[in-house]
Amino acid sequence: MKDNVILIGFMGAGKTSVSKALAKLEQMPLIDTDEQIEAEVGMATSRIFETYGEEYFRQTETSILEKLIRETDHSVISVGGGLPVREINRKLMRELGTVVFLNVKAETVLKRLEGDTTRPMLYADDKEKRVNDLMAFRNPLYREAAQVVIDTDEKSVEQIAREVAELAVRR
Ligand code: S3P
Repeated sequence: MKDNVILIGFMGAGKTSVSKALAKLEQMPLIDTDEQIEAEVGMATSRIFETYGEEYFRQTETSILEKLIRETDHSVISVGGGLPVREINRKLMRELGTVVFLNVKAETVLKRLEGDTTRPMLYADDKEKRVNDLMAFRNPLYREAAQVVIDTDEKSVEQIAREVAELAVRR
């Protein structure tokens, strides 16, 4: 198995900020699957959803994971919130390294993403219901995929990064 650290979790869980802090702390390269997809397709995520649809985005996520398995090691990898939903992606992540689930409460997500327009999965009249429903469906899948689970509510980004370092990098 490769020894990357893969951060998974719901939108707004802090995957991007924690991955940056962790990469700095451990001096590891940093990869963000959303950034890779946007660079490959040449447009922002919301545009990709609008133009090609969710299924195309999901297929691109899988092909990015396949590419990372061929090319990447000893890196911090932050993945989009919906990536672990596909079974094949959960299998690919296991090949890629240690999977860490950043767990977050729905109320924290709603607070953090108030006014956010960049996440097409949350375009809904009742955003609170949407977050609760999606989270109820996804959390068991995140848990199934992860070797390490960290509760993140009320913790600072640096504190979470240190926990990930202890539990998943310096094992
Ligand atoms: C998605 C999460 C987003 C991005 C896309 C779809 C999802 O990433 O991949 O908008 O389905 O949860 P973040 O989790 O970084 O917001």
